[in-house]
Amino acid sequence: MSEPSPRFFEIFLEIFGSLTRQGPGNRASAQKALYLCEDLPNVPEILDLGCGTGGQTFQLAELTQGSVIAVDQHSVSIEKLSQKLVQLGLTNRIQAQVGDMAELNMAQSSFDLIWSEGALYNIGIPRALSICAGLLRKGGYLVFTDAVWCRANPPDEVKAIFESDYPTMGTVADLVSLIESSPFKLLNHFPLPPEAWWDDFYTPMERVIEEFLGKYADDPEALEILKQLALEPAAHRKNSDYYNYEFFITRKV
Ligand SMILES: C[S@@+](CC[C@H](N)C(=O)[O-])C[C@H]1O[C@@H](n2cnc3c(N)ncnc32)[C@H](O)[C@@H]1O
Repeated sequence: MSEPSPRFFEIFLEIFGSLTRQGPGNRASAQKALYLCEDLPNVPEILDLGCGTGGQTFQLAELTQGSVIAVDQHSVSIEKLSQKLVQLGLTNRIQAQVGDMAELNMAQSSFDLIWSEGALYNIGIPRALSICAGLLRKGGYLVFTDAVWCRANPPDEVKAIFESDYPTMGTVADLVSLIESSPFKLLNHFPLPPEAWWDDFYTPMERVIEEFLGKYADDPEALEILKQLALEPAAHRKNSDYYNYEFFITRKV
């Protein structure tokens, strides 16, 4: 498959940056996952890896009394998150930092909870597990979501979504086995419900794509890119039984 053009990335980032989340997830699922971290301190120190513009970061601050360091390698997302923090008066609870999760210059054993929605796969799950184990205190929690196959032989339009971005994507059983051979104990896991794909992610994405069809009406290259971007939510509407996101709740042993 050919590399996407710079214009593709420009429009992709313009659309994704305008959404409250850049991947599937919702508050109810975050709350359920947090509830499963039974011994979390009352005021936990939290690290949110691959935070995007902070959809789940704000939920973590709302659902706990802790402090959050939110890290993403995409500086524009961190700039957006920083602006929202100032507007909402949350700079005392949340710090936003540009950084590569594989190269973090942070003290070892310094967090009670590492959270990551749809981002750890970017550096490979085994490597992410090892890095997070170093950053967490003993008994600290690593809670993350990852894309998983739920059925064999997905249609080509579904394979196309993941083959360039996540070629090593596995099943829940594959993830469980990676966790079992890491310094983490798996406490629980559950699939995201359908509304976690739609309410804060694909529905607003489709709305923005629709808006942009008007904005770029005289720009054939942009219209072609918008058509490509619209394929992902459309494929999910038809084929959501082939793949999902799974929440994993793990604890450093
Ligand atoms: C699918 S988005 C999820 C964003 C956010 N967690 C959410 O659910 O809305 C994945 C995020 O991981 C970030 N990312 C990818 N590789 C990264 C890395 N090596 N270090 C830090 N962030 C990374 C991307 O910039 C992107 O914001």
